Amino acid sequence: MAKMNFGGVVENVVTREEFPLKKAQETLKNETIAIIGYGVQGPGQALNLKENGFKVIVGQRKDSKTWDKAVADGWVPGETLFEIEEACEKATIIQYLLSDAGQIILWPTIKKYLTPGKALYFSHGFAITYSERTGIIPPDDVDVILVAPKGSGTSLRRLFLEGRGLNSSYAIYRDATGKAFDRVVALGVGIGSGYLFETTFKKEVYSDLTGERGTLMGAIQGIFAAQYETLRANGHTPSEAFNETVEELTQSLMPLVAENGMDWMYANCSTTAQRGALDWWKKFRDATKPVFESLYDEVQKGNEAQISIDSNSKPDYRVKLEAELKEMRDSEMWQTGEVVRGLRPERAKK
Ligand SMILES: NC(=O)c1ccc[n+]([C@@H]2O[C@H](COP(=O)([O-])OP(=O)(O)OC[C@H]3O[C@@H](n4cnc5c(N)ncnc54)[C@H](OP(=O)(O)O)[C@@H]3O)[C@@H](O)[C@H]2O)c1
Repeated sequence: MAKMNFGGVVENVVTREEFPLKKAQETLKNETIAIIGYGVQGPGQALNLKENGFKVIVGQRKDSKTWDKAVADGWVPGETLFEIEEACEKATIIQYLLSDAGQIILWPTIKKYLTPGKALYFSHGFAITYSERTGIIPPDDVDVILVAPKGSGTSLRRLFLEGRGLNSSYAIYRDATGKAFDRVVALGVGIGSGYLFETTFKKEVYSDLTGERGTLMGAIQGIFAAQYETLRANGHTPSEAFNETVEELTQSLMPLVAENGMDWMYANCSTTAQRGALDWWKKFRDATKPVFESLYDEVQKGNEAQISIDSNSKPDYRVKLEAELKEMRDSEMWQTGEVVRGLRPERAKK
């Protein structure tokens, strides 16, 4: 483990320099890793681990299209692909990658296979942190560990295939065997993480739920909508409002932020833009801070977890979700976005 300075704060991180793939392979050479669930994270983690030389099997219910997807990806029924219970029985490490709602439903079944010395692995702190609500309480004699890739399972796989990696956090909730650290870091390296930063189950879930409700997804759509509506109410056309709200951000400015930071993006804009942005950003921070504070409070109290457990376990969950996404898709802003995307030079019809 290395200590690294992040803007003046020293944190524990693990890179592939201190923990190379060879060491990870050595650490897990006698382990059978079962990936339970083949949704979004399952395929990325399972395929990366397999191609990195680990012994991996997949557990997936059979009467499902997802089983066929696993077969199409090269998992062989009876050899590397099994029903969930059989995979759990064979495993020494169970990577519990069902949807968060599925994890709650299947827990009584999975629990039976958690014999002493095994490891139970999560990619989210949700199940354990909110155990009073999820009912997921592992036995004392198994390791309980977490590697949470900071991005979609699809990106985890794509970046792996490009020879790059997605950063992940790791945490140990229970070290029953004395081997939890080596196990968790070896798995993190094995799934193709770029570097691993240390967290706890609680911190992982609190920051993750805040982030997706906040700047990553919820807040950004809210700020887009507020600015778009203001421009429209003042007589600007949909094209103008969309370009000044979304298109310029995603196409021109965010790639610059990703490359070298916000100050560098500012430095590469006009002096008029710089002056205005520097004058206004703190007002937006101050206006939204109370909303972020109440969001964090709701997350910490478990209310956000309860809302997602309740809604995700309803039988009409997918239908309702589709209706809400359709409402967003059908809004004038995103309808305009569809037209604007089609007009990008690389997409426009020649
Ligand atoms: N999505 C991401 O990129 C991402 C990123 C970071 C962390 N995570 C975490 O990774 C974990 C997995 O998330 P995910 O998004 O990959 O999940 P997901 O795609 O929603 O997982 C679906 C899997 O769960 C199975 N499943 C759901 N309900 C089930 C039930 N009642 N019985 C049996 N199988 C059931 C599905 O089988 P069927 O297809 O047969 O229903 C499928 O294999 C979660 O803890 C999540 O928070 C996800």
